[in-house]
Amino acid sequence: MPLRSAPSPPIAILAPTLIIPCSRSMAAEKWLFPLFSVSFVSLLLFLSAISGFTASSAFFDTQPSPFYVRRGAAHPPAFAYFISGGRGDARRMLRLLLAVYHPRNSYLLHLSADAPAWERADLATSVRLSIPAIRAFGNVHVVGKPDAMTYMGSSVLAATLHAAAVLLRMDSVWDWFVTLSSSDYPLVTQDDLIHVFSSVPRDLNFIDHTSDLGWKEYQRVQPIIVDAGIYLSRRNSFFEASEKRPTPDAFKFFTGSPWLILSRRFIEYCILGWDNLPRTLLLYFTNVMLPQEGYFHSVICNSPDYQNTTVNNDLRYMLWDNPPQMEPHLLNKTDYDKMVKSGLPFARKFSMDDPVLDEIDDKILKRWHHRSVPGAWCTGRNRWWIDPCSQWSNVNIVKPGSQAKRFGQLMKRYLDEWKSGLSSCK
Ligand SMILES: *[C@@H]1O[C@H](CO)[C@@H](O)[C@H](O)[C@H]1NC(C)=O
Ligand SMILES: *[C@@H]1O[C@H](CO)[C@@H](O)[C@H](O)[C@H]1NC(C)=O
Repeated sequence: MPLRSAPSPPIAILAPTLIIPCSRSMAAEKWLFPLFSVSFVSLLLFLSAISGFTASSAFFDTQPSPFYVRRGAAHPPAFAYFISGGRGDARRMLRLLLAVYHPRNSYLLHLSADAPAWERADLATSVRLSIPAIRAFGNVHVVGKPDAMTYMGSSVLAATLHAAAVLLRMDSVWDWFVTLSSSDYPLVTQDDLIHVFSSVPRDLNFIDHTSDLGWKEYQRVQPIIVDAGIYLSRRNSFFEASEKRPTPDAFKFFTGSPWLILSRRFIEYCILGWDNLPRTLLLYFTNVMLPQEGYFHSVICNSPDYQNTTVNNDLRYMLWDNPPQMEPHLLNKTDYDKMVKSGLPFARKFSMDDPVLDEIDDKILKRWHHRSVPGAWCTGRNRWWIDPCSQWSNVNIVKPGSQAKRFGQLMKRYLDEWKSGLSSCK
C-alpha cells in the first residue's frame, strides 16, 4: 500500500469540461479569472517552475502542506461521497459538503442539467474558496458536464453510475460509495463515521431492500416508461406506455430505498465487472419507474457473489406519513430528539436552512458557519476568529464524539442481523 500524498487533480485523465477540480490547478484557475489577472497567474507559474513550489502554496495560503493520507485495509476506511442537487441547490450543497468533509474522503458534487451553467461554475468557485483543506487535499470535484435527473426516470440512475465511475477513476482507494442529496444532513461527525466503520467488513453494502413488492408490483414494476431526459436535450419528463409488461421471472425483482452505502468491490462489479448481470439489468431498468429504487437492489440480490454482503438498512433517518407519500416528511426541530436518539448517521429531508440544521451543527457537529466539522485532523486553536481546521497534522487518526457510541451500538445490531442471514435478499 503506497503512501498517498494529496493527489494532483486528474486533469490528465479527464477532460476539463467533464470535471471541474476544486483544488489548486490550472483548470481551476479559469474559474478564478475575475480574482487574478492572467499575468499574475503566469508570473506564479514562472516562479513555481524555477523554485519547484506548487503554483500557489507559497503565495495564496499560509496553511501547512497536506499530510499523508494513508488508505487501504490496514488504515481507517475512507468514503466517496456523491452529493446531487438541482437548480437553486448550490448553496445547500456547499453547506452539506462542509458538514461531511474530511481530508481522507473523496467528494463529487453534481448539479443536474436543469441548473444553469453559471450556478455550476459558482459552486465550483465557492467550494474552492471555502476552506484551505479542500484546496490543499484536492479531494472535492464538481461535475462540469451535467446529467439530466428526471424524477421517476432512468436519468437519475445514469447520473449515479456516472458518479461512481468518475470516483473510481479519480481515486480508487476509497472503501464505500455514499449517495446524498442536497436535502440530506449528517447526524454524526466524519470522525464518528470513520471510527464506527473501522469495525465493519469492507465488503458490506448498506442497502434497504425487499422482494415483497405489494402494491408496487402493479404501479411501479409493470408500467413501461421512457425518460425523455435521456435523449431530448431540453426535456425532463417521462412518457408511460399504455401497455404493461409482466413482472420479470429471469431474475428476482427487489425494491427499496434509493439512498445507498455501497462497497468499492460491489461498485467495481457494477461498473467494470466481467459478469453481464449489471448490464442486462441496466437495460431492463431503463424503462422502469424510479429505477434507482430497484437497480442496485436487484443486481446485488441476484448475484451469488454479493447477496451475502447486504445489510438491509440504508442508515438514514426518515419519517413517513401514513400512508406514505412519494417523499418523506420534512424534518424540523420537533424531530431533533428522536433523530439523535436513533443513532443513525444521516437524516432526510430538510428544507433549506431549517433551524434544526443549526441545532445539529451546534450540538452534534460543533460546526461553525462556513467551516468544516472540526475533527482530530484539525490542530489550529479553537477561537472564534480562527478556524481550527485551517491547520492540520495527522489526518489518519480520528476522535469519536458523542454520537459515535449510539451509532456504534446500532451498527452492532445491524451486523448481528446480517450474520444471522435472516434479513438479506428475502
Ligand atoms: C451465501 O449464503 C448462503 C446461505 O447461507 C450460502 O449457501 C452461500 O454459500 C453463501 N455464498 C457465498 C458466496 O458465500
Ligand atoms: C414540525 O413539523 C410538524 C409536521 O409538519 C409540525 O406539526 C410542527 O409544528 C413543526 N414544528 C416546528 C417547530 O416547526
